[in-house]
Amino acid sequence: MLQKPRGTRDFLPDEMERRRMVEARLREAARRWGYREVCTPEFEELELFTLRSGEGIIQEMYVFEDKGGRSLALRPELTAPVLRMYVNEGKTLKKPLRWFYFADCFRYERPQKGRYRQFWQFGAELIGADSATAEAEAVMLGSDLLNATGVKFDLQVGHLSLMRSLVAHLVPDEQRRIRMYLDKKDRTGLAEYLDGLGMRDLEESLVALIEARSLEEALEVTGPIPDARKIGEVFSMLDAAGVSYTLNAGIARGLDYYTGTVFEAFAENLGAENQILGGGAYRLAHLFGGEDTPSCGFAIGFDRVMVALGEIPGPRHTVAGVAHTAEGRDYAIRVAARFRDAGIRTELDLSGKGIGAQLSNIARHADFALIIGEKEAEQKMVTLKNLASGEQKTVPLETAVREVETGVTGR
Ligand code: HAM
Repeated sequence: MLQKPRGTRDFLPDEMERRRMVEARLREAARRWGYREVCTPEFEELELFTLRSGEGIIQEMYVFEDKGGRSLALRPELTAPVLRMYVNEGKTLKKPLRWFYFADCFRYERPQKGRYRQFWQFGAELIGADSATAEAEAVMLGSDLLNATGVKFDLQVGHLSLMRSLVAHLVPDEQRRIRMYLDKKDRTGLAEYLDGLGMRDLEESLVALIEARSLEEALEVTGPIPDARKIGEVFSMLDAAGVSYTLNAGIARGLDYYTGTVFEAFAENLGAENQILGGGAYRLAHLFGGEDTPSCGFAIGFDRVMVALGEIPGPRHTVAGVAHTAEGRDYAIRVAARFRDAGIRTELDLSGKGIGAQLSNIARHADFALIIGEKEAEQKMVTLKNLASGEQKTVPLETAVREVETGVTGR
């Protein structure tokens, strides 16, 4: 028996309905903030992803050559593609742009709970606004979207200037190593590495910065930094908006990628892969041949949100099943069409068995059975059975439609 590729999943209808329900909540919340959907290709020129992140990222991607010898990659995320699209569209677009996407991404990772090789991101990018308000908006939107899904989460917000001010004097490779330890939250590794370099003072400062719980405490560690005022504004806007977050100056998310505010959200009940959102302020447009453009955004790991939500009830639909005799069949098809026109999920029996067998089949999942025999077909009536109460009556077609439309059977 053939199996699906490692790290991918199939979704049965119940799960798909739940996913679409949560997706709709995210879309609706993004719409209310003025964000509009964009879509980019599933694969891109490989260079789009290596330009900023370096060749190392190839290990983590699905990379292939097409028949024309081009090096392509399945997108591992959408920020670079979206910024590429923004640069391609050029100057015709009026800034700031508020864009969102809901799309699948591919990463060649070791699969485990919450970590897949194909997964979906719901992300937003705010392009072309360079202000504390823009950075605060990205955080507020991220928080609002997660709240809309109903997931319980812990939001952490930091600013890279704080960390940068401590490591600015080091060579890029040393900075990268430090970031790696911080990203992995590996304090022992960090301590050993810095001890080896004879930088115990830096180790103490980094630990103090990570543990700072207010901007004042963080600034005590770093001393005065040029961005202090802007950072203060971001945090005071989050406070004014009532966003629930903690300051974490130890967030080191891609020190070489992000430029300002950075933020991450963690779900309570997910185990190791518990990060459900990541984002921040960045500049990418100039790398792709456009003007230097301040941007900020984030992506929500949709699959992790679904795992964290657990067995939530899916959307409720009223279902009508149509049982019919051979003589009633043609009229039954018209009855089903009328019910569907009214927006009711309606399924016609396909078995051709006796009415009793059809009814027990329908009773397994439907709320109402519509029984159409010769008599009903002649009189243009419908025998309507409420499958929760067992009540049965023969009524005109339009009456049956109205009853089912309003009929909450409580099943
Ligand atoms: P990221 O942190 O790499 O950021 O990914 C965002 C989210 O995608 C993660 O927090 C996680 O929930 C989810 N995710 C990542 N990898 C996997 C996986 N293998 N399986 C399931 N979920 C996963 C970005 O991608 C940036 N583009 C975010 C951004 C947007 N920054 C600015 N704008």
